[in-house]
Amino acid sequence: MPEKQLSGEVYYPKQQIIDHANAKCQDLYEFAKKDYVGFWEKEANDLKWFKKWDRVLDDSKKPFYKWFVGGKTNIAYNCLDVHTETYRRNKLALIWEGEKGESQSYSYFALRRDTCRFSNILRSLGVKKGDRVTLYMGRIPELMIGMLACARIGAIHSVVYGGFSVEALHERLEDSQSKVLIVSDGAYQRGKIVPLKQIADEALIRAATVESVLVVKRTGESINMEAGRDMWYHELMALPIAGNSCTIEEMDAEDPLFMLYTSGTTGKPKAILHTHGGYMVGIYATLKYVFDIHEDDRYWCAADPGWITGHSYIVYGPLLNGTTSFMYEGAPTHPYPNRWWQMIDKYGINILYTAPTAIRGLMRFGDAWPNRHDLSSLRLLGSVGEPINPEAWRWYYKTIGKEKCPIMDTWWQTETGMFMITPMPCVPLKPGSGTKPFPGLEMDIVDEEGKSVKPNEEGYLVIKTPWPSMLRSIWNDPDRYVNQYWSKFPGMYLTGDSARRDEDGYYWIIGRVDDVIKVSGYRLGTAEIESALVSHSSVAEAAAIGLPHELKGNAIHCFVILKAGFSKSDKLIEELRQHVGHEVGPIAKPEQIDVVDSLPKTRSGKIMRRVLKARALGLDPGNISTLEE
Ligand code: WT7
Repeated sequence: MPEKQLSGEVYYPKQQIIDHANAKCQDLYEFAKKDYVGFWEKEANDLKWFKKWDRVLDDSKKPFYKWFVGGKTNIAYNCLDVHTETYRRNKLALIWEGEKGESQSYSYFALRRDTCRFSNILRSLGVKKGDRVTLYMGRIPELMIGMLACARIGAIHSVVYGGFSVEALHERLEDSQSKVLIVSDGAYQRGKIVPLKQIADEALIRAATVESVLVVKRTGESINMEAGRDMWYHELMALPIAGNSCTIEEMDAEDPLFMLYTSGTTGKPKAILHTHGGYMVGIYATLKYVFDIHEDDRYWCAADPGWITGHSYIVYGPLLNGTTSFMYEGAPTHPYPNRWWQMIDKYGINILYTAPTAIRGLMRFGDAWPNRHDLSSLRLLGSVGEPINPEAWRWYYKTIGKEKCPIMDTWWQTETGMFMITPMPCVPLKPGSGTKPFPGLEMDIVDEEGKSVKPNEEGYLVIKTPWPSMLRSIWNDPDRYVNQYWSKFPGMYLTGDSARRDEDGYYWIIGRVDDVIKVSGYRLGTAEIESALVSHSSVAEAAAIGLPHELKGNAIHCFVILKAGFSKSDKLIEELRQHVGHEVGPIAKPEQIDVVDSLPKTRSGKIMRRVLKARALGLDPGNISTLEE
């Protein structure tokens, strides 16, 4: 029970939730506060290591921190083999439902077997430890199998979200210098087919390093198969070389497990690097404590495996914890707005983890849709991706959770790998706040000088202690890693978010302070959208900003200057929207494009998006002393 009365709208934890929790979270906070290194070491000891570490944390080359130095392990071994060696071998690891309603399930035994078979195929194609493999597919079990198969043999996977398009995929294939691309022929989305293989063919034209393309048949649409390069996954998996066992690559704790591209402040998307050792420990512990995962749970993270949420908390986290992960292929409202609620009922889901944009999107259809289904299996709910507005929080709490399920509003990033600001089951909740940093983390909100701000003042959200699943670097660009995250305030990791902390020490995220736009929880860089626009023959210059949007959180608004000889028309605007969709992906299609004669710029020529945004919102643009003219 909390010692002091908290201010504002507070939801205290129910006794049955506290009793069920697999740890007393107060103890965790206290232990980790005294000895955060010891806290992480204890968690690491729950997992299997071929060789234990010599040192838990090496901070001698800051900010290039190392965790579990000298340790040898493999995350795929901990996800699969560790369980198949026990009674869990026949337990479900994955339940999958397709958008058309078909379903498949994999026991731990079956998931390990198929992963081994696929690992053997990859090895036979010459994929070795350290090689990069790109995966570009819909939400299907083969995506999980592909990731685990790479991990097993020490290849670095790079999953490109299936909602991205030609240019985005091409850029990522080229930057990662991938040897193999795993793709599905297509993906179902809202009853339509996204032609992934066709998009990949276009992206592959300029991707010289890709030697083999492995195609998973999902839709059965006719596609082009290039002789000598393209091979069917199901045909390879049936070959004798795809044996049911496959030796595991013993990985150094610090060896990279995957790279995942995310949008940053300027320029091209950057690939964030995560490791086998520290990453594994971080996500194992956070999922266990925050979502109170038990091995008999059926847990559903409704994100896409193509994002960090899916990597950490659909694929690796649930398997490390030996629970059952549920994956759904399609859209929440297809064919009707009860699709999710129907599946919670059908599969007896205990934990649902989703994003505010999805909650708002479902909320607008009213209570009757969820009320048609038995949602009583739910015990805990989660939210991620952007701040959740209290109205959506309350609906989620009352209508979906029936006032008995606490909501874990987890703040984290691709870079952090794991939950950072989050409640645990024993923590009193305030709608819209992620509550406090997870045990072992010291975070702060600071001003321009790096000093802590007073309660309720806005400032930069920073992290002051290293954590095991922290990014290690940016692929091929360690300088950018240092500059982007560790330069503004010495010794502090800069998150790129602004936040405030209330009188109870609860954190409230305000939003990004850099040129990143969160659209429906997806992270996009203004630079990507702008460079897509200027790649169109009619556009001379472009600027993109995010403006508040009821369902999406933020929507993209663009300003373009046309080249001489082009004039504004509805047809051209629509063509530009489609062009961005084709280049970056449908999620990046601007809500609105305005044709303008000039853009506000600094004297050094940088577009002042802040000024555009203030103008669009009818606000004071603030300090404009650097504006040219
Ligand atoms: C950015 C990171 C981490 C998985 C999904 C996004 C925003 C994330 C929350 C939350 C308020 C949130 C932040 C952060 N964000 N979770 N619970 N409350 N804002 O990962 O694509 O790397 O984006 O998402 O702005 O910096 P990502």
